[in-house]
Amino acid sequence: MAKRESTKETYSPRERGRRNQQSNNLQGRQRPERPNDTGQLQREQPEGRGRGNSRTFRIIDANSDGTISAQELSNALESLMDLDSNKDGKISKDELRGEQGRGQRPRTEGRRSSSGGQIVRGIKMPTPLFRTEVPEHIYDIILGKPTKTAVTASVLAYQDLHFRIGVGTEPNALGKTLNVGLLEAGIPKEVLIDGLKAGTQYFYKLQYGKSLTNLNESEVYQFHTSRDAGDSFVFTVQADSHLDFGTDPAVYEQTLKNALASKPDFHFALGDAFFSDKRVRYQDALDQYIAQRYYFGLLCHSAPLFFALGNHDGESGYRDNGRPENIAVWSAKTRNKYIPNPTPNAFYGGNTSVHPEIGLLKNYYAWDWGDAQFIVLDPFWYSGRGGRDGMWAKSLGKKQYDWLKETLENSEASYRFIFLHYLVGGLDNQTRGGVNIANLYEWGGKNSSDEDEWATKRPGWEKPIHQLLVQHNVSIVFHGHDHLYAKEELDGVIYQEVPQPGHRSGNTRSAGSYGYDQRNVIGSSGHVRVAVTNSEVKVEYVKTRVGGTEFTASQRRYVADSYSVKSLNIKP
Ligand SMILES: [Fe+2]
Repeated sequence: MAKRESTKETYSPRERGRRNQQSNNLQGRQRPERPNDTGQLQREQPEGRGRGNSRTFRIIDANSDGTISAQELSNALESLMDLDSNKDGKISKDELRGEQGRGQRPRTEGRRSSSGGQIVRGIKMPTPLFRTEVPEHIYDIILGKPTKTAVTASVLAYQDLHFRIGVGTEPNALGKTLNVGLLEAGIPKEVLIDGLKAGTQYFYKLQYGKSLTNLNESEVYQFHTSRDAGDSFVFTVQADSHLDFGTDPAVYEQTLKNALASKPDFHFALGDAFFSDKRVRYQDALDQYIAQRYYFGLLCHSAPLFFALGNHDGESGYRDNGRPENIAVWSAKTRNKYIPNPTPNAFYGGNTSVHPEIGLLKNYYAWDWGDAQFIVLDPFWYSGRGGRDGMWAKSLGKKQYDWLKETLENSEASYRFIFLHYLVGGLDNQTRGGVNIANLYEWGGKNSSDEDEWATKRPGWEKPIHQLLVQHNVSIVFHGHDHLYAKEELDGVIYQEVPQPGHRSGNTRSAGSYGYDQRNVIGSSGHVRVAVTNSEVKVEYVKTRVGGTEFTASQRRYVADSYSVKSLNIKP
C-alpha cells in the first residue's frame, strides 16, 4: 500500500489529477477496456441482454461448441475486442449488434479529448487510450545488428542537426570520428559503425549541433562486438510494452533503466509494442512507433535492440491483401524505418524473401554470440485467420520452419535460445499459455482431442516444433503475450513467459485461465535478465519498483525469481 501511494509522488500535478480521476472513475463501463480483468464480462453483459445466441456469444465461444468454457470466459475481453469493427478501442451498441457497416464508421468517435483522455459513452477516460506522449528530447538512438566488426546506430533527431559519432575502446579517448552529416528532423538514419575488432568493448558519443562549428556532446554510450566462445555476457528481455492505458510510463522507464544497469550486450522486445491494429486508422499508430523510439532509446543507446513481432503490431500475413496499402504493409514498413532489425548477411541468418512493397521483412533471424545461439521467430506473417483449419492455420510457414531446422542443425552452440511472441497454435485464437499448449498443432502435433494429426496436417514437415527444439537441446523459449512471469519446463526445454515492462499494476489473476500453474507465476512489471557463462546460464526476473525518494537506484530493481541452466556442451 505504501508503495502504491508513493507512486503518485513521481507525477506532475496534471498527471496526478488524471490518476486520481482514474481511481474515481474506474467503475463499471470503463473497466471492460482494461486487459486481464476477467470480471469485466459480467458487467458488460447487460449491453447484450436477450441475445444469448448473438454475435457477442459467438465471438466469445471461440471453438463454436455452443458453450462458453472457463477458458473462453477468461478470454472474453480480448474476444470482445473483435466486435470493435472500427478499431476505435471501444464497442458501440451498433457494433455489439453487428449493425455497423463499413461505410458508417464514425471517424471521430473514440479519438482523444482535447485534454488527452478519451470519451467513452459520454464518460471521460482517465488517461489517453495510448500513452504516446513522451518527454521532449533532441534525439534518440537505437543500436542494432551488432556483428564481429560493426554495429548500426539508428539516430533520430527531432530538429535539423549535424551529427558526428566519436568511437573508441576507452571512454575518455574516443580515437575515431564518423561524420554522419545533417539529419533532417523526424527522419531516422541508420549509421554503420564498422572497422571494429571482434570481442571488444567500445564506447561512443554523439556530437551534434545546428552547425559543425558549435557542437554539443552527448554522454558516453557503449556497445560490445561479438563475443568469443567461453566469454561471459548478459542480455535482457521484455515483452508487451503496449503503451496503452494500462501502461504506467514511470514503470516502463524504470524497467529500461534497470536493464541498462546490467550493461547487457543486447535487449529483446517480444512484440505488442505498436498496436497499429487498435487504431481508428492504422496510420494513427505512427506516434506509437515514435514514442517507442524514446523508450527503447533509454536503454538501446548502449544495448542493440532485437524486435520480435506481436499479434498487435499489425503484421499479420492474412491482412496483406495484395494492395500496396494495407495495415500489414504499412506496419512492416514503419517498423523497419524506426527499428533496426537484422538483415541476412555473413553474420545473421534470416528471411531472404523480398516482399514487393516492403522489401526484406526482417521478421525472423538468428545469430551466434559466444557460446549461445539466438533465434527470433515470427508466428504472424504466415498464419491464417483460422476458419476451417482452426488452430492449424497458425504456422511459421514451410520456409521459416525449414530455416529454423537448418539453423538449429548448423550451430554448435552450447546454449540455444528461441524468442517469439507466442507459440504457434494454442487452445483458441487467443493463443494463451506455455507448456499447456506445447503439445498442440504445429508446435506439438496434436489436436485438442489429443490425436496426432501432424502427418496429415503438415505432410513433408519433419516433426512438430517442440520436438525439433527438444532434439536440438534448446535451452529456453522466451515468449510473451500473457503479461506475467512464468518459468515452465517440458522435455528439458524451459518455456519462459516474459512479463510486461510497464504495466501500472501487474497481477496474476489470469494465470490459471491462461494455463499456468497459479503457484509458480509472478505478476508484471519488470524484465528478464540472462547472464551467460561458459558453465551455466543464470536467469533472473528483475522486478521494477517505482515510488518516491525513499528508494535508491538499486532498490528500484529486485530479483523476484532466478534459476540456472547448465551448459550441455553439445557436440553435433
Ligand atoms: Fe499479444
